[in-house]
Order: sequence, then structure tokens, then C-alpha cells
Amino acid sequence: MTIELIPVPDLGGADKVEVIEVCVAVGDVVEEEQSLVVLETDKASMEIPCPSAGTIVALKVNEGDTIGEGDIIVELEVAGAGAVAEVAAEPEAVTEPEPATEAPAAPSPVSKVALSELLVPVPDLGGSDSVEIIEVCVAVGDDIAEGDSLIVLETDKASMEIPAPVGGKVLDVKVAEGAKVSEGDAIVILQVDVSAASERTEEVVSASESAVQETSNKSAPAATSESPKVDPASAQATAKGDSAYAGPSVRKLARQLGVDLSGVTASGPRNRFTKDDVRNYVKQVVEDATSGKLSSGAGIPKIPEVDFSRFGDIELVKMTKIKKITAENMSRSWLNVPHVTQFDDADITELEVFRKSMKAEAEKRGVKLTPLPFLLKAAAAALRHEPTFNVSLHADGEHMVQKNYVHIGIAVDTPAGLMVPVIRDVDKKGLWELAEETATIAKKSRDGKLMPRDMQGGCFTISSLGAMGGNGFTPIVNAPEVAIMGVSKAQMKPIWNGSDFEPRNMLPLSISYDHRAVNGADAGRFFTYLVAVIGDIRRLLL
Ligand code: COA
Repeated sequence: MTIELIPVPDLGGADKVEVIEVCVAVGDVVEEEQSLVVLETDKASMEIPCPSAGTIVALKVNEGDTIGEGDIIVELEVAGAGAVAEVAAEPEAVTEPEPATEAPAAPSPVSKVALSELLVPVPDLGGSDSVEIIEVCVAVGDDIAEGDSLIVLETDKASMEIPAPVGGKVLDVKVAEGAKVSEGDAIVILQVDVSAASERTEEVVSASESAVQETSNKSAPAATSESPKVDPASAQATAKGDSAYAGPSVRKLARQLGVDLSGVTASGPRNRFTKDDVRNYVKQVVEDATSGKLSSGAGIPKIPEVDFSRFGDIELVKMTKIKKITAENMSRSWLNVPHVTQFDDADITELEVFRKSMKAEAEKRGVKLTPLPFLLKAAAAALRHEPTFNVSLHADGEHMVQKNYVHIGIAVDTPAGLMVPVIRDVDKKGLWELAEETATIAKKSRDGKLMPRDMQGGCFTISSLGAMGGNGFTPIVNAPEVAIMGVSKAQMKPIWNGSDFEPRNMLPLSISYDHRAVNGADAGRFFTYLVAVIGDIRRLLL
């Protein structure tokens, strides 16, 4: 028997994702490919299959956990000889350390160095040892008040601030960022004004004196009641999980500058905000405001909240994560992108004759040849013909990104919400291949099996409501792409051919584009070419 550790595979760039379902339990006998857990990212839910058959001997994740690539999901006992030692030799590597967020036990004493000097040590860390300092909040010469944070420690489970037991001047800092400390290690030496000290300070100092004098007596009563404590509530509050962590000095800076950290991107190690993150954010906001660039809809009045139950019976239905993300993305695109939508009808009479003539062959190949692969192919040809559409705006506001690849997203309606998987290199693929890939990726979307990378890298999107009906609609650009095509239901229409009205099968199309990136003339050329190619698919051969 071999014990295998099954890790989270490559998540296609997604960093930390939430476990929304654990599909196995300890003792379960699982098949190869059987789902172990279901993860949910911003864009999709995905099942992580078991790479081999075996028996689950340990579960390393719980529902609600946030995990990333390489984290162990389960330990699996698989049939086979020999390798036990190799994998089982490192059980420590997957053993979760004890949580450090519990209330610490008795705080440790504050030691006195001289009459007005206090050596402030690391207090009891509630069982944790050798804990990393992620921030030193004070410097020599600082005047600090009682309760000000001295350092921030981070265990596997939480961050915690160590407050100053009394106010004073920092004479010496005994620690540095990145160092590891344990209970009793010196943090700072404070100079305290004993004569002017508050009653509380006197208590601490005198307690410290007795702690120094009675070095063997670690339970000096006043010291245990007044020395620095790890506040488990504050430790919990800063351990936020899916969001970034801000140390006290960063939070102070953010407060001073009126910055809401939820809008700031953290660039520090392990998802921490740095002071530079706050400064850069302010700089960017000022720059954007002065250049009039890329407003995010600030100042738009909110839609008032309404109590609908006043008007009749209602129920609250929880939105799926995908729906919430879609709502956010749509608002972002709608508010940031100046949209223009253009409409046209493509004559698909000949295309439909050809498509239907291929029905028998399609059945033989086991694929369904709908109009969509033709539209993909035509859109790819138009993107190659009019590369001004195959661009994105660069974030610096100075450049356009010209793409030399043609990846096209297709909007897929799924029970969990709208998903847009991307078909890569559409220009290099044939109709059969596109038909097959469209069907596979649409099924994957509906089964919640898309990986983040399946939805990345699109240059253009096709949203087809053709099977459902409608004469036309204005699709919202899927930023940072700059254009999207809406497809409505084809219908026979009388079309004037110069001498008569002829029945033709007409497909209503719309193109919405980002008018910052694409001008009207380019759009006119792109669309005219696209409609012409759809109208005569022989053009794809040219
Ligand atoms: N006009 C008339 N009929 C059309 C058509 C059109 N524009 N497009 C497709 N059809 C027909 C197909 O030929 C097929 O008919 P058949 O069964 O007689 O052969 C039928 O409609 C169903 O097609 P469908 O299975 O939906 O395949 P598809 O390739 O057209 O579309 C998806 C695949 C994944 C795009 C589609 O299923 C889907 O999810 N569409 C919704 C997209 C969406 O929600 N967009 C809104 C975003 S805001």
C-alpha cells in the first residue's frame, strides 16, 4: 500500500479559491476521476478529480477553507508496493499547526532595565512558538502611547498585534521584520516617565521591578494583569482570510489619507498591504481625477432600497457567486466602457443550405453543426482582416495592446449563471473542430467543470441568443476586450434583389464596441466584412 498526498492542481492563475463542497470522507473508497472537492473562483466552480483510485485516509480541507495550488486535499491509500516510506516520511509537511487565535494564557511580565527603562518582551502567544514578525510598527525615538502596536506577528492562522503596555519613548528596538520570536524575547526598550506616569504605568513598572528582582518568580501578580496581551479578537479581525492584511501603521496611513483599503491592491508578501500600496493608490486616484481618465462611476446615485413586501408576497433567493460576479463585471464594463452598438442582418440562406447538407456527415462524426462554428470562423476572419478590433486598452492609458492571436469567448447560459469560456486560435481551426470544441466547452460550463484558464485570454465574444428568439439586442462589451457580437434568431424575410422581393434567411447581428478603442469607421469596416463573410462563406477560403 502507498499513501499519496493529493494536492490542489494548477488553477490556471487563480491564487486562493474557496472550497464550496467536500465530496469525500475518511474511509471512502474512491475511483480515479471521482470528485474530491468543488472549488469556486470568481469565475467558475470546478471539481478536482482524484488522480488515482484508493481509500481516503485523511481529509486536509474543510468546506469554506481557502486553498491554493499545491495545498494538500486528501491523503489517499492506493494499492501498490514499495513507496510507503517516500510519501509517509513527510507527514509533518501536511500536519496543520495548532490554531494560534485562541486567547493566550497568562501574559508574561514586563522587565525593568533601569528605573525609567522598560524592557518589553513578547507575551504568551497562546501556544505558538517562533512566530514571524511581519511588521515592526515603531522606531527608535518614537513617542508612543499605551496600547500602540509595537510589532505584528503572523502565525499560520492569524496575525496579531503586540501593544505597548505603557506609553513612553522608544530607546531601542530589539527585533526586525522577518525575525522569529517566542514568548519572553525582547521587543523594545521604552523610556517611561515614572514621576509623571499614570497609576497604571506605576503598577507596570513596579511589577517589572519585582519581576527583575525576583527573576525566578514568573508569576508577579501585577505584571500578569497588566503586561501586553495578544487580543484574540483583534487577531481574528486581522486574519481576514480571503482579503488582504493591513498592519496598524498601514491602517493609520490609510486613515490619515482617507483611503478605504477595500479599493487598494495589496502587493506585500502573503497578501499584505504596504504603505506604498496606499500611497500608489492615492497617486493613481489623483492622476485619474486630474486626467479625467477611466472613472468608475463614482458619484452615481444609488438605486434606493425598496421593501417589496409592502406590495405583495415575496421571497429572497440567494444569488450564486457566478451571478454576483457577473453583476459586478457588467456594472464595471457598463460604467467604464463608452458603448456604441451597430446592427445589421447577414444573409445566411446559402450558409444554411450548406450546413443542412452537412447534417448526415455531422451525425456520423457525432457532432451538431449549428450556425455558431460558422460565426466563430467568420469573426476570426474579420479580426484578422481588421486588426483594429483585436486590441485592448493598456492600463497605462498610453498604449493599445495589439493581439496577434485570435481567441474568441462564447457566452454560455448555465444554471449557475452566465459563463464565457474561450476557444483558442479560432482562426487556425476547422468547422468540425470548432463544432466539437463549442459543444465540449458548453457542456463543461453547464457541469461546472471549467477551469479559470478556460475563461481567460479572449479577444472578442459572441453572445448567441439565436436559439431563443429576438430581433436584436445590445450586448455589453466583455472588458478588457473591446467588442462583442450579439446573435439573434434567423428568420425568412422578403429582401429586394433589384427587381423582386426574394425570400432570404436573414440573421440579425449586433456589434457593441468600446468607442475609446475603436472608432466608428473601423467598426463599419469590421462589421461589413463580417456580414459579407457570413453571407458567402466561400470568402473564408480567400
Ligand atoms: N437563429 C436560428 N436558430 C438558431 C440560431 C440562430 N441564430 N442559433 C442557433 N440556432 C438553432 C440551432 O441550429 C439549433 O437548432 P437545431 O437543434 O434544430 O439544430 C438550436 O437553435 C439550438 O442551438 P444550441 O444548442 O443553443 O447551439 P448553439 O451552437 O447555437 O449555441 C451556446 C451554443 C452554448 C452558445 C448556447 O447554448 C447558449 O448557451 N446560448 C446562450 C448565450 C447567452 O446566454 N447569451 C446571453 C449573454 S448576455
